[in-house]
Amino acid sequence: MSFEKTKWIWQNNEFLPFDEAKIHATAFGLHYGTGVFEGIRCYDTAGGPAIFRLKEHMDRFYASAEVYKLKIDYAPEALNEAICETVRRNEFKNCYIRPTAYSDAGSLGIRSVCPTGINILAWEWPNDFGAEKLAKGMRVTVSPYRKFHSSMIPTTAKATGNYLNSILAVREAAARGFDEAILLDVNGNLAEGAVENIFLIKDGKLLTNDQNSSILLGITRDSAIQIARHLGCEVEIRDLKLHELLSADEVFLTGTAIEIAPVREVDGKIIGNGARGPITEQIQKNFFEIVAGRKPEFQHWLYPIGQNAVAGAVA
Ligand SMILES: Cc1ncc(COP(=O)(O)O)c(C=O)c1O
Repeated sequence: MSFEKTKWIWQNNEFLPFDEAKIHATAFGLHYGTGVFEGIRCYDTAGGPAIFRLKEHMDRFYASAEVYKLKIDYAPEALNEAICETVRRNEFKNCYIRPTAYSDAGSLGIRSVCPTGINILAWEWPNDFGAEKLAKGMRVTVSPYRKFHSSMIPTTAKATGNYLNSILAVREAAARGFDEAILLDVNGNLAEGAVENIFLIKDGKLLTNDQNSSILLGITRDSAIQIARHLGCEVEIRDLKLHELLSADEVFLTGTAIEIAPVREVDGKIIGNGARGPITEQIQKNFFEIVAGRKPEFQHWLYPIGQNAVAGAVA
């Protein structure tokens, strides 16, 4: 992904031009990885741009911040409005939104609790794997890097430092020519993709794991579970074994960046018929209809950004 400059970044209650949004070299979070963030998508719908499951993302944002004692001095309604205004001021319809809360400058003693800095970025980021892979499926590998256990670092908190593990795994997978890495947990069960949750389909049943396998509880994961149940598909949530991945009829990954992405191959082993399977296709199709605002029964997942833009650069 290349990063084109956007017009505005929200930083600590101010809208700043892109080049002016800076963090000091002494920021505690830069040194020790104490930051939390969200990845959220805004979709263009018939009723205007709308943010997908904003409440669930912001509930997770505040919960993640709580784990690292990052005090957020803004009510959820204020941050929701700041997010919508960031999208409006940048004049986006479809975009990715990244709120971040981090320990800012104060002290570098490891016991310090520093002031919290908050940034909100938005940029245009079409699906990370592109339309072709969404239709044909991805080639993944089981990573030699294990997912750290949630007793080491809580995996249900979306913290910046967690991504060192994901970055090692994706770089190693890319170096061997794969699209994505699947990490096992410390017990050898499936954990998740580097930045996605994993689903298997066997004999018409959807299988996925939960926090017992040291995963982030993805909001797209929850959406896929709800969509599958809505379609009448049975969903079983339990630990998953590597052999179940290799012998699955269908496999797909879920995440805000890649949405619902089929897997066609695991380390050279062809999954199903080597293309997107029929149940994956149904769930994916429904997901894209929901985010486009074409499914009234899921309209409550969409938060319209509204039209009340404020003139001027500063909130
Ligand atoms: C480690 C990890 N697992 C799963 C996910 C999927 O979560 P979500 O669907 O909320 O984007 C992500 C992405 O945020 C992630 O980084």
